[in-house]
Amino acid sequence: MIVLGIETSCDDTAVALVDGERSILANLVLAQLAEHRPYGGVVPEIAARSHLDHLDSLIARAMAEAGLDFADVDGIAATAGPGLIGGVFVGVMTGKAIAAARRLPFLAINHLEGHALTVRLTGDVAFPYLLLLVSGGHCQLVAVEGVGRYHRLGTTIDDAVGECFDKAAKMMGLAYPGGPALEAAARGGDAARFDLPRPMMGRETLDFSFSGLKTAVRHRIAELGVEPLTAESPAVRDLAASFQAAVADVLADRCTRALALFQARWGRPGPLVVAGGVAANQTLRARLATVAAACGTELVAPPPALCTDNGAMIAWAGIERLRLGLTDPLDFAARPRWPLDQVHGQAPA
Ligand code: KG4
Ligand code: ZN
Repeated sequence: MIVLGIETSCDDTAVALVDGERSILANLVLAQLAEHRPYGGVVPEIAARSHLDHLDSLIARAMAEAGLDFADVDGIAATAGPGLIGGVFVGVMTGKAIAAARRLPFLAINHLEGHALTVRLTGDVAFPYLLLLVSGGHCQLVAVEGVGRYHRLGTTIDDAVGECFDKAAKMMGLAYPGGPALEAAARGGDAARFDLPRPMMGRETLDFSFSGLKTAVRHRIAELGVEPLTAESPAVRDLAASFQAAVADVLADRCTRALALFQARWGRPGPLVVAGGVAANQTLRARLATVAAACGTELVAPPPALCTDNGAMIAWAGIERLRLGLTDPLDFAARPRWPLDQVHGQAPA
């Protein structure tokens, strides 16, 4: 079984071909960094136009690289939300057009489901498991019971963690996108130099909050009184390291609590899975591995290149859904918002 995956929900145009044996036959990502960099963030209209300009040729390249013809493909999967709607339209319309022309099943994939199932592409992870989904737009703890069977246990009440990385990085004078730049700046920095808040730590619920941390970073920068800050400033290295330590503490606390709840409700440990762009961060991965071990389980994370947005995760979610007959009609509407627990899925075992 081979599925073509299309991802256009943010600023990466991504296409992949994946088979049912977990082989990634092609996986191409065209980042639009240069187009958005002058604005310090993603401009939705520019993103949508860029997807439109590049998607067809990227699909042709992926097919050529995999040595495949559409006659070899069993389904077309495209991110149908949540995301920047202009870009989502481009991917969905392209996917539907190919599906209609080649009479192939169409699979409307929830972007978050793509992140949630990636560990089953890169390894042999059985349901159920606890998922920490950390990306530019989301920060959630989810119990993953099966394909399309997701229970959100906690979420951010304000900013997503990736968004907080990006905004903190911008304030520190680091290049866009902020997450990887902040991680690089933090290397060798003194994480104990700045005292930053750890929002929600110790709380009963499994929610997150990051806006207070962002504000605290702004205040520390103002107190420093040095402008402009650059990646080379020792203060930036220390502030980046302090920021990362605060985020690590919060995620560790929330995951420890969530693992206990998960084990109480689902009766077995199951691995702790982390996914989404922020899961590429090595400091956070190391910390979460420690948390999982302390709770008698292990951390499973996709390789960094499959943590950030990619087509392989969409193709794989397509494989999982196609196997269960969970295909979608060609009038499926693209959605800017689409909570993970509203995805239709397999019946309970
Ligand atoms: O999953 P993703 O590629 O796109 C969304 O679905 O949002 O996540 C992008 C987010 C951005 O906020 C980016 O700064 C963050 O992931 N990110 C990182 C790292 N790499 C990407 N954050 C921290 N450390 C990283 N190494
Ligand atoms: Zn994503």
